[in-house]
Amino acid sequence: MMSPTVLIDERSVVFDGHVIPGRWLRDHGDDPVSLNPETKQRLVDTFAIPRDVAPLAVRIDGGRLDIDWSDGAHTGHSISTLKRLVTTRRAPEVRPTAGFRIEGDLDLWSSAPGVSWFDLACLDDDETWQPAIEHLYRYGWVAFDGAELGEAASARLAARIGYPRACIFGTLWNMNSGSFEHADSAYESGNLDVHTDGTYSHDAPGTIIFAQQLKTGEGGDSVLVDGFAAAHDFQVAEPEAADLLTRYSVRAHYIEPGVHLVAERPPLRVNEHGVLKQVSFNNYDRSPLLPAADVVDDVIEAYNAFRAVFSNPDRALYHEWAPGRMLVFDNWRCFHGRTGFTGERHFKGCYTNHEDLESAYRLAGLTPLVL
Ligand SMILES: [Fe+2]
Repeated sequence: MMSPTVLIDERSVVFDGHVIPGRWLRDHGDDPVSLNPETKQRLVDTFAIPRDVAPLAVRIDGGRLDIDWSDGAHTGHSISTLKRLVTTRRAPEVRPTAGFRIEGDLDLWSSAPGVSWFDLACLDDDETWQPAIEHLYRYGWVAFDGAELGEAASARLAARIGYPRACIFGTLWNMNSGSFEHADSAYESGNLDVHTDGTYSHDAPGTIIFAQQLKTGEGGDSVLVDGFAAAHDFQVAEPEAADLLTRYSVRAHYIEPGVHLVAERPPLRVNEHGVLKQVSFNNYDRSPLLPAADVVDDVIEAYNAFRAVFSNPDRALYHEWAPGRMLVFDNWRCFHGRTGFTGERHFKGCYTNHEDLESAYRLAGLTPLVL
Protein backbone atom coordinates (compact mmCIF):
# COMPACT_ATOMS: atom_id res chain seq x y z
CA MET A 1 0.00 0.00 0.00
CA MET A 2 1.31 3.43 -0.94
CA SER A 3 1.84 5.75 2.00
CA PRO A 4 -0.61 8.64 1.88
CA THR A 5 0.38 12.29 1.95
CA VAL A 6 -0.70 13.68 5.30
CA LEU A 7 -0.47 17.38 6.14
CA ILE A 8 -1.80 19.59 8.89
CA ASP A 9 -3.90 22.57 7.82
CA GLU A 10 -4.95 24.54 10.90
CA ARG A 11 -7.69 22.43 12.55
CA SER A 12 -7.84 19.86 9.77
CA VAL A 13 -5.73 17.05 8.44
CA VAL A 14 -5.30 16.83 4.68
CA PHE A 15 -5.15 13.13 3.86
CA ASP A 16 -4.20 12.40 0.24
CA GLY A 17 -5.76 15.73 -0.70
CA HIS A 18 -9.00 15.09 1.29
CA VAL A 19 -9.65 17.59 4.07
CA ILE A 20 -10.75 15.82 7.26
CA PRO A 21 -11.79 18.12 10.10
CA GLY A 22 -9.69 17.51 13.20
CA ARG A 23 -12.79 17.29 15.36
CA TRP A 24 -14.04 14.29 13.37
CA LEU A 25 -10.62 12.62 13.32
CA ARG A 26 -10.04 13.14 17.06
CA ASP A 27 -13.31 11.24 17.63
CA HIS A 28 -12.49 8.34 15.32
CA GLY A 29 -9.20 6.89 16.53
CA ASP A 30 -9.11 3.10 16.44
CA ASP A 31 -6.42 2.83 19.12
CA PRO A 32 -7.38 0.97 22.31
CA VAL A 33 -8.03 4.20 24.23
CA SER A 34 -10.52 5.41 21.62
CA LEU A 35 -12.20 2.13 20.69
CA ASN A 36 -12.76 -1.19 22.46
CA PRO A 37 -10.49 -3.57 20.48
CA GLU A 38 -12.96 -6.49 20.66
CA THR A 39 -16.43 -4.98 20.34
CA LYS A 40 -15.35 -1.82 18.48
CA GLN A 41 -17.56 0.15 20.88
CA ARG A 42 -16.56 3.77 21.23
CA LEU A 43 -14.58 4.61 24.39
CA VAL A 44 -13.72 8.20 23.57
CA ASP A 45 -16.10 10.81 25.00
CA THR A 46 -17.25 12.38 21.75
CA PHE A 47 -19.03 15.23 23.46
CA ALA A 48 -16.02 16.32 25.55
CA ILE A 49 -13.85 16.95 22.47
CA PRO A 50 -13.15 20.69 22.24
CA ARG A 51 -14.83 22.27 19.22
CA ASP A 52 -11.52 23.90 18.23
CA VAL A 53 -9.34 20.82 18.74
CA ALA A 54 -6.37 20.89 16.36
CA PRO A 55 -3.75 18.39 15.27
CA LEU A 56 -0.24 19.32 16.47
CA ALA A 57 1.80 16.53 14.88
CA VAL A 58 1.16 13.62 12.52
CA ARG A 59 3.33 10.53 12.07
CA ILE A 60 3.02 7.63 9.66
CA ASP A 61 4.38 4.33 10.88
CA GLY A 62 3.69 1.35 8.66
CA GLY A 63 -0.05 1.16 8.12
CA ARG A 64 -0.84 3.53 10.98
CA LEU A 65 -1.30 7.27 11.30
CA ASP A 66 -0.65 8.68 14.78
CA ILE A 67 -1.79 12.16 15.73
CA ASP A 68 -0.99 14.40 18.71
CA TRP A 69 -3.81 16.79 19.58
CA SER A 70 -4.05 20.24 21.10
CA ASP A 71 -6.14 18.87 24.00
CA GLY A 72 -3.30 16.55 25.02
CA ALA A 73 -4.79 13.41 23.46
CA HIS A 74 -3.07 11.04 21.05
CA THR A 75 -5.00 8.97 18.55
CA GLY A 76 -4.04 6.18 16.19
CA HIS A 77 -5.75 5.42 12.89
CA SER A 78 -5.60 2.61 10.37
CA ILE A 79 -4.51 4.17 7.08
CA SER A 80 -6.48 1.65 5.02
CA THR A 81 -9.65 2.50 6.98
CA LEU A 82 -9.10 6.23 6.45
CA LYS A 83 -8.55 5.65 2.72
CA ARG A 84 -11.85 3.82 2.54
CA LEU A 85 -13.69 6.48 4.55
CA VAL A 86 -12.49 9.45 2.52
CA THR A 87 -13.62 7.75 -0.68
CA THR A 88 -17.08 6.81 0.64
CA ARG A 89 -18.11 10.08 2.26
CA ARG A 90 -21.83 10.45 2.95
CA ALA A 91 -24.13 13.27 2.01
CA PRO A 92 -27.56 13.71 3.62
CA GLU A 93 -30.54 12.34 1.74
CA VAL A 94 -31.86 15.02 -0.61
CA ARG A 95 -35.55 15.79 -0.14
CA PRO A 96 -37.70 18.81 0.60
CA THR A 97 -37.21 19.98 4.13
CA ALA A 98 -40.45 20.46 5.95
CA GLY A 99 -39.60 19.55 9.52
CA PHE A 100 -41.57 16.87 11.32
CA ARG A 101 -44.56 16.60 13.59
CA ILE A 102 -45.48 14.20 16.34
CA GLU A 103 -48.78 12.39 15.99
CA GLY A 104 -51.02 10.88 18.61
CA ASP A 105 -52.40 11.80 21.97
CA LEU A 106 -49.01 11.66 23.70
CA ASP A 107 -47.96 13.51 26.84
CA LEU A 108 -44.50 14.75 25.86
CA TRP A 109 -42.45 15.30 29.01
CA SER A 110 -39.39 17.49 29.14
CA SER A 111 -39.16 17.26 32.89
CA ALA A 112 -39.58 14.01 34.74
CA PRO A 113 -43.07 12.96 35.75
CA GLY A 114 -43.23 11.08 39.05
CA VAL A 115 -42.94 7.31 39.00
CA SER A 116 -45.92 5.29 40.14
CA TRP A 117 -45.97 1.53 40.07
CA PHE A 118 -48.82 -0.59 38.76
CA ASP A 119 -49.29 -3.99 40.37
CA LEU A 120 -48.22 -6.64 37.88
CA ALA A 121 -51.42 -8.52 38.67
CA CYS A 122 -53.12 -5.93 36.43
CA LEU A 123 -51.90 -8.00 33.47
CA ASP A 124 -54.45 -10.67 34.22
CA ASP A 125 -57.50 -8.60 33.38
CA ASP A 126 -58.33 -6.34 30.42
CA GLU A 127 -59.91 -3.72 32.66
CA THR A 128 -56.95 -3.40 35.04
CA TRP A 129 -54.47 -3.56 32.13
CA GLN A 130 -56.09 -0.58 30.41
CA PRO A 131 -54.63 2.18 32.67
CA ALA A 132 -51.19 0.57 32.47
CA ILE A 133 -51.11 0.47 28.66
CA GLU A 134 -52.52 4.00 28.54
CA HIS A 135 -49.60 5.11 30.70
CA LEU A 136 -47.18 3.33 28.33
CA TYR A 137 -48.79 5.00 25.33
CA ARG A 138 -48.91 8.49 26.81
CA TYR A 139 -45.48 8.59 28.47
CA GLY A 140 -43.52 5.90 26.62
CA TRP A 141 -42.96 3.79 29.72
CA VAL A 142 -44.79 2.10 32.58
CA ALA A 143 -43.48 0.62 35.83
CA PHE A 144 -44.74 -2.35 37.81
CA ASP A 145 -44.12 -3.95 41.16
CA GLY A 146 -45.33 -7.15 42.70
CA ALA A 147 -43.61 -9.33 40.09
CA GLU A 148 -42.53 -12.84 40.97
CA LEU A 149 -38.80 -13.49 40.54
CA GLY A 150 -37.67 -15.49 37.52
CA GLU A 151 -38.34 -15.09 33.84
CA ALA A 152 -42.07 -15.82 33.92
CA ALA A 153 -42.99 -12.21 34.80
CA SER A 154 -41.14 -10.85 31.74
CA ALA A 155 -42.84 -13.48 29.56
CA ARG A 156 -46.27 -12.51 30.95
CA LEU A 157 -45.71 -8.82 30.35
CA ALA A 158 -44.34 -9.48 26.84
CA ALA A 159 -47.41 -11.62 26.10
CA ARG A 160 -49.67 -8.66 26.97
CA ILE A 161 -47.89 -6.68 24.24
CA GLY A 162 -46.98 -9.43 21.79
CA TYR A 163 -44.25 -11.96 22.42
CA PRO A 164 -40.61 -11.96 23.52
CA ARG A 165 -38.36 -11.36 20.56
CA ALA A 166 -35.45 -13.71 19.89
CA CYS A 167 -32.21 -11.78 19.43
CA ILE A 168 -28.46 -12.05 19.92
CA PHE A 169 -28.94 -11.83 23.71
CA GLY A 170 -31.42 -14.72 23.71
CA THR A 171 -35.21 -14.56 23.94
CA LEU A 172 -35.73 -14.07 27.67
CA TRP A 173 -32.30 -12.85 28.73
CA ASN A 174 -30.30 -12.23 31.88
CA MET A 175 -28.44 -9.00 32.45
CA ASN A 176 -26.30 -9.58 35.51
CA SER A 177 -23.58 -7.18 36.61
CA GLY A 178 -20.15 -8.71 36.40
CA SER A 179 -21.25 -11.67 34.26
CA PHE A 180 -19.99 -10.25 30.95
CA GLU A 181 -22.17 -12.74 29.15
CA HIS A 182 -21.90 -10.30 26.27
CA ALA A 183 -19.01 -7.88 25.83
CA ASP A 184 -21.32 -4.89 25.88
CA SER A 185 -21.18 -1.65 27.88
CA ALA A 186 -24.61 -2.53 29.35
CA TYR A 187 -22.98 -5.23 31.49
CA GLU A 188 -20.51 -2.89 33.20
CA SER A 189 -21.09 -0.88 36.39
CA GLY A 190 -20.32 2.77 35.53
CA ASN A 191 -22.79 5.43 34.42
CA LEU A 192 -24.34 4.42 31.12
CA ASP A 193 -25.22 7.38 28.88
CA VAL A 194 -28.80 7.47 27.71
CA HIS A 195 -29.22 5.77 24.35
CA THR A 196 -31.56 3.57 22.35
CA ASP A 197 -30.93 -0.15 21.89
CA GLY A 198 -30.43 -1.86 18.55
CA THR A 199 -29.06 1.04 16.49
CA TYR A 200 -27.23 -1.82 14.73
CA SER A 201 -30.53 -3.56 13.91
CA HIS A 202 -32.68 -2.64 10.90
CA ASP A 203 -35.72 -3.23 13.11
CA ALA A 204 -34.62 -1.98 16.53
CA PRO A 205 -36.42 -3.54 19.51
CA GLY A 206 -39.78 -1.88 20.00
CA THR A 207 -39.94 -2.27 23.76
CA ILE A 208 -37.46 -3.24 26.41
CA ILE A 209 -38.70 -5.10 29.48
CA PHE A 210 -36.53 -5.20 32.60
CA ALA A 211 -37.41 -7.16 35.75
CA GLN A 212 -35.09 -6.79 38.70
CA GLN A 213 -34.07 -9.99 40.46
CA LEU A 214 -31.34 -8.94 42.85
CA LYS A 215 -29.85 -5.70 44.17
CA THR A 216 -27.07 -5.15 46.66
CA GLY A 217 -25.17 -1.87 47.15
CA GLU A 218 -26.17 1.59 45.98
CA GLY A 219 -27.20 3.33 42.76
CA GLY A 220 -28.00 1.68 39.47
CA ASP A 221 -31.25 3.61 38.88
CA SER A 222 -32.59 3.40 35.35
CA VAL A 223 -32.66 6.76 33.60
CA LEU A 224 -35.39 7.46 31.05
CA VAL A 225 -35.71 10.46 28.75
CA ASP A 226 -38.60 11.24 26.41
CA GLY A 227 -36.83 11.27 23.05
CA PHE A 228 -39.91 12.63 21.24
CA ALA A 229 -40.12 15.57 23.63
CA ALA A 230 -36.39 16.18 23.15
CA ALA A 231 -36.78 15.97 19.35
CA HIS A 232 -39.69 18.40 19.49
CA ASP A 233 -37.74 20.89 21.60
CA PHE A 234 -34.64 20.46 19.44
CA GLN A 235 -36.63 21.22 16.30
CA VAL A 236 -38.06 24.37 17.90
CA ALA A 237 -34.61 25.56 19.04
CA GLU A 238 -32.53 24.47 16.04
CA PRO A 239 -34.77 23.63 13.07
CA GLU A 240 -31.97 23.29 10.52
CA ALA A 241 -29.92 20.98 12.71
CA ALA A 242 -33.00 18.89 13.50
CA ASP A 243 -33.81 18.68 9.81
CA LEU A 244 -30.30 17.48 9.03
CA LEU A 245 -30.71 14.65 11.56
CA THR A 246 -33.85 13.51 9.73
CA ARG A 247 -31.86 13.19 6.49
CA TYR A 248 -28.42 11.96 7.56
CA SER A 249 -28.15 8.25 8.32
CA VAL A 250 -25.82 7.20 11.10
CA ARG A 251 -24.39 3.70 10.98
CA ALA A 252 -23.88 1.45 14.01
CA HIS A 253 -22.42 -1.99 14.64
CA TYR A 254 -22.47 -4.84 17.12
CA ILE A 255 -19.54 -7.23 17.18
CA GLU A 256 -18.88 -10.31 19.28
CA PRO A 257 -17.56 -13.75 18.35
CA GLY A 258 -19.86 -15.11 15.64
CA VAL A 259 -21.85 -11.86 15.26
CA HIS A 260 -21.25 -8.74 13.17
CA LEU A 261 -24.42 -6.66 12.80
CA VAL A 262 -24.56 -3.32 10.97
CA ALA A 263 -27.52 -1.04 10.31
CA GLU A 264 -28.09 2.64 9.72
CA ARG A 265 -30.89 5.18 9.97
CA PRO A 266 -31.24 8.89 10.73
CA PRO A 267 -31.24 9.74 14.46
CA LEU A 268 -34.68 11.29 13.83
CA ARG A 269 -36.56 8.91 11.53
CA VAL A 270 -39.47 10.63 9.86
CA ASN A 271 -41.93 8.89 7.55
CA GLU A 272 -43.01 10.09 4.11
CA HIS A 273 -45.85 12.09 5.69
CA GLY A 274 -43.50 14.09 7.91
CA VAL A 275 -44.35 12.21 11.11
CA LEU A 276 -41.56 11.41 13.56
CA LYS A 277 -41.54 7.62 14.00
CA GLN A 278 -38.35 6.80 15.86
CA VAL A 279 -35.35 8.26 17.64
CA SER A 280 -32.06 6.33 17.42
CA PHE A 281 -28.90 7.30 19.22
CA ASN A 282 -26.13 5.21 20.72
CA ASN A 283 -22.73 6.82 20.62
CA TYR A 284 -21.03 3.71 22.02
CA ASP A 285 -22.09 1.66 18.99
CA ARG A 286 -21.76 4.33 16.31
CA SER A 287 -19.63 3.42 13.29
CA PRO A 288 -17.10 5.76 11.70
CA LEU A 289 -19.03 7.29 8.80
CA LEU A 290 -17.31 10.35 7.39
CA PRO A 291 -19.89 12.95 6.30
CA ALA A 292 -19.45 14.69 2.94
CA ALA A 293 -16.97 17.56 3.03
CA ASP A 294 -19.56 20.33 2.77
CA VAL A 295 -21.69 19.02 5.65
CA VAL A 296 -19.23 17.38 8.01
CA ASP A 297 -19.16 20.27 10.48
CA ASP A 298 -22.94 20.65 10.33
CA VAL A 299 -23.49 16.93 10.99
CA ILE A 300 -21.13 16.93 13.97
CA GLU A 301 -22.75 20.10 15.35
CA ALA A 302 -26.27 18.75 14.89
CA TYR A 303 -25.44 15.35 16.39
CA ASN A 304 -23.77 16.93 19.43
CA ALA A 305 -26.50 19.56 19.81
CA PHE A 306 -29.28 16.95 19.85
CA ARG A 307 -27.35 14.94 22.42
CA ALA A 308 -26.95 18.09 24.56
CA VAL A 309 -30.74 18.57 24.49
CA PHE A 310 -31.74 15.03 25.42
CA SER A 311 -28.98 14.45 27.96
CA ASN A 312 -29.94 17.54 29.97
CA PRO A 313 -30.39 16.09 33.50
CA ASP A 314 -33.64 18.07 33.92
CA ARG A 315 -35.26 15.69 31.43
CA ALA A 316 -34.19 12.52 33.21
CA LEU A 317 -36.62 10.30 35.03
CA TYR A 318 -34.82 8.18 37.62
CA HIS A 319 -36.43 4.82 38.22
CA GLU A 320 -35.26 3.30 41.48
CA TRP A 321 -35.01 -0.48 41.42
CA ALA A 322 -35.96 -3.16 43.91
CA PRO A 323 -36.41 -6.88 43.29
CA GLY A 324 -39.96 -7.45 42.05
CA ARG A 325 -40.08 -4.14 40.18
CA MET A 326 -40.38 -4.10 36.40
CA LEU A 327 -40.16 -1.50 33.70
CA VAL A 328 -41.23 -1.54 30.08
CA PHE A 329 -40.55 1.33 27.71
CA ASP A 330 -40.83 2.21 24.04
CA ASN A 331 -37.31 1.97 22.64
CA TRP A 332 -38.35 3.95 19.55
CA ARG A 333 -39.40 6.90 21.74
CA CYS A 334 -37.45 6.85 25.02
CA PHE A 335 -33.74 6.97 25.65
CA HIS A 336 -32.55 4.88 28.56
CA GLY A 337 -29.39 4.76 30.63
CA ARG A 338 -28.27 3.94 34.12
CA THR A 339 -26.55 5.59 37.03
CA GLY A 340 -23.34 3.97 38.29
CA PHE A 341 -23.69 1.44 41.05
CA THR A 342 -21.92 -0.65 43.62
CA GLY A 343 -22.69 -4.25 44.53
CA GLU A 344 -24.64 -6.61 42.34
CA ARG A 345 -27.56 -5.92 40.06
CA HIS A 346 -29.38 -8.78 38.30
CA PHE A 347 -32.19 -8.52 35.79
CA LYS A 348 -34.31 -10.74 33.63
CA GLY A 349 -35.83 -9.16 30.59
CA CYS A 350 -36.69 -9.31 26.93
CA TYR A 351 -37.45 -7.23 23.88
CA THR A 352 -40.69 -7.07 21.95
CA ASN A 353 -41.30 -5.78 18.43
CA HIS A 354 -42.64 -2.29 17.87
CA GLU A 355 -45.34 -3.59 15.56
CA ASP A 356 -46.71 -5.62 18.48
CA LEU A 357 -46.69 -2.57 20.75
CA GLU A 358 -48.65 -0.70 18.07
CA SER A 359 -51.05 -3.64 17.86
CA ALA A 360 -51.56 -3.53 21.63
CA TYR A 361 -52.34 0.21 21.41
CA ARG A 362 -54.96 -0.44 18.71
CA LEU A 363 -56.53 -3.23 20.71
CA ALA A 364 -56.70 -0.92 23.74
CA GLY A 365 -58.45 1.74 21.65
CA LEU A 366 -55.56 4.18 21.93
CA THR A 367 -54.86 4.52 18.21
CA PRO A 368 -57.32 4.04 15.39
CA LEU A 369 -57.94 0.57 14.00
CA VAL A 370 -56.83 0.56 10.38
CA LEU A 371 -59.08 -1.27 7.96
FE1 LIG B 1 -29.49 -0.26 26.46
